[in-house]
Amino acid sequence: MALLERRRDLAGVTLAVSAGGTREPIDPVRYIGNRSSGRQGVAIAVAAAERGARVLLAAANIEGDVLREAERPGIEITTAGSAADLAEVMRTLAAEADVVIMAAAVADFRVAQVSEGKLTREAGGVPTLVLAENDDIVAGLAAQRREGQRIVAFAAETGEDYLERGRRKLRKKGVDFLAVNQVGWTTGFEAAYNTLYVLDASDEVVREASGSKREVADALLDVVAG
Ligand code: CTP
Ligand code: CA
Repeated sequence: MALLERRRDLAGVTLAVSAGGTREPIDPVRYIGNRSSGRQGVAIAVAAAERGARVLLAAANIEGDVLREAERPGIEITTAGSAADLAEVMRTLAAEADVVIMAAAVADFRVAQVSEGKLTREAGGVPTLVLAENDDIVAGLAAQRREGQRIVAFAAETGEDYLERGRRKLRKKGVDFLAVNQVGWTTGFEAAYNTLYVLDASDEVVREASGSKREVADALLDVVAG
């Protein structure tokens, strides 16, 4: 019985979550991307839906086999391509959400001038890509948050000072929680197992969770949506 109750403990909560990674176009056939599979964000969406939440999922370039897991009652999926696309989608979804979790890997920079036609070798020479900085989506959502709305950022960090870097990021973005993920070449992005540290606005680690992306998702939801 207790287990059954826990399963629906997020009934009445609307959660907006972004997952995957943005792609910044270079020309009509090429982009700058990243290695985010979307698995962690999808695991959060699935866990929240199973716990009774209404879930609004912004899916940025997630492979079909990963996204299929989110195709279920309780989850409404909107797709997004570039960071600018995702910013617009998240503004719309956040307007309805009690909790916003930005699990997507967002490109910090876009190509300033996207080429109309395909870049070719025939044109001669080596092209130089000039980049421009993208807006910080989660910082924008935090600045506009409604009373009582909780904004959660993710940070994938390498190196020993990952918690300190996480604390600086939490303050800079003005979010309520920041989930720090330690990553390297072989852990984090495409891995099925994960370690997550959840910081709150008082700089404390309020939760540490290791395990499958689903287990980590449930631990995060306990803290930010419970
Ligand atoms: N994020 C965002 N908009 C961006 C970049 C990042 O909303 N343009 C969000 C991510 O979705 C994540 C959090 O910010 O929730 C942290 O992303 P991260 O790349 O670690 O932060 P940055 O501020 O870009 O710092 P860094 O210089 O380390 O890349
Ligand atoms: Ca970044």
